[in-house]
Amino acid sequence: MKKERLDIDRVAFIGRTYEEYEKIFGLDYRHLRKARILDCPAGAASFAAEAGRRGFDVVACDILYGLSRRALLSKGEKDIALINEKLGGVAHLYLWDYYRDRDGLISKRREALGRFAADFPRGRAAGRYVAASLPRLPFADGTFSLVLSCHFLFLYGDMLDIDFHKECLLELARVSSGDVLIFPLSGLDGDPYPHLGEVLRFLDVNGVEAGIRRAPFEFQRDANMMMRLRRKWSSEIKRRGR
Ligand SMILES: C[S@@+](CC[C@H](N)C(=O)[O-])C[C@H]1O[C@@H](n2cnc3c(N)ncnc32)[C@H](O)[C@@H]1O
Repeated sequence: MKKERLDIDRVAFIGRTYEEYEKIFGLDYRHLRKARILDCPAGAASFAAEAGRRGFDVVACDILYGLSRRALLSKGEKDIALINEKLGGVAHLYLWDYYRDRDGLISKRREALGRFAADFPRGRAAGRYVAASLPRLPFADGTFSLVLSCHFLFLYGDMLDIDFHKECLLELARVSSGDVLIFPLSGLDGDPYPHLGEVLRFLDVNGVEAGIRRAPFEFQRDANMMMRLRRKWSSEIKRRGR
C-alpha cells in the first residue's frame, strides 16, 4: 500500500518567512550580522527581503527568477492553493503547534509571497535575486560564508535523482567558505531520504565534511533532521556540470 504523503507532482514555488528560516536553522543576529548569505533555492521565501531590511547581506537564487514579478506572483498563488487543497487530506502528518491550523499556515505562505514579490523588482536589479539552475550556480568558489537550502533537496527525493542530489550538494559546498545548512532530510512522505549513506560517502571522498543533527524546528512529523556541510580544510571542489 502506498504511504500517505502530501500528494503533489511538482516542486512548488512557495516560500517561508524570515521568522520561519530563523526557527528552522536556529539562526540568530550574531550569525547573520557578519555573514554573506546565499538562500538556494529560495522560491517565494521572504527571507532575503526581510533580512535585507535588517541590514544583512543575503542573495536569493531560484530557477524561476528570470520570470516577471507578475508571473511569479501568479505561480506562487497557484502553488499555495495546491498545497492548501492537498494538505486537507493529510493534516495529521504534521505538527500544528507553530501554525495552529491550515489557515495559519496558508497565511504565512501568503505573507512570504507578498513580501518576496514587493522586494523582487528592486532586489533583482540590485543583484539580490539571481536566476540560477542547480546543480550549477553562477558564483565563484567560496563567495558566501553561509548557505541555506531548505525544502528542495531530499524533500523532493522521489522526483530528483541521487546524482542530481550529489551534484547540488557539492555545488552548494563549492560556493561556500563556511557552513551549508540543509533541511529537511525527509521526503514528502516523512521518511528519511533513502540514499543518505551513499550521499555522505560521496561527499566525504569529494572533500566535503558532512554532519547530521537534530533541527530546532519540526512541522512535518519526524522530519526534524538537518545536514551541515563544510569544505574540508584546503580542499578544492571542482565545478561540475550535468
Ligand atoms: C519549495 S520551494 C523552497 C523555497 C524556500 N527555500 C523555502 O523553504 O521556503 C523550492 C524551489 O526550488 C526551485 N527549483 C526547482 N528546481 C530548481 C533547480 N534545478 N535550481 C534552482 N531552483 C530550483 C523551485 O522553483 C522552487 O521555488
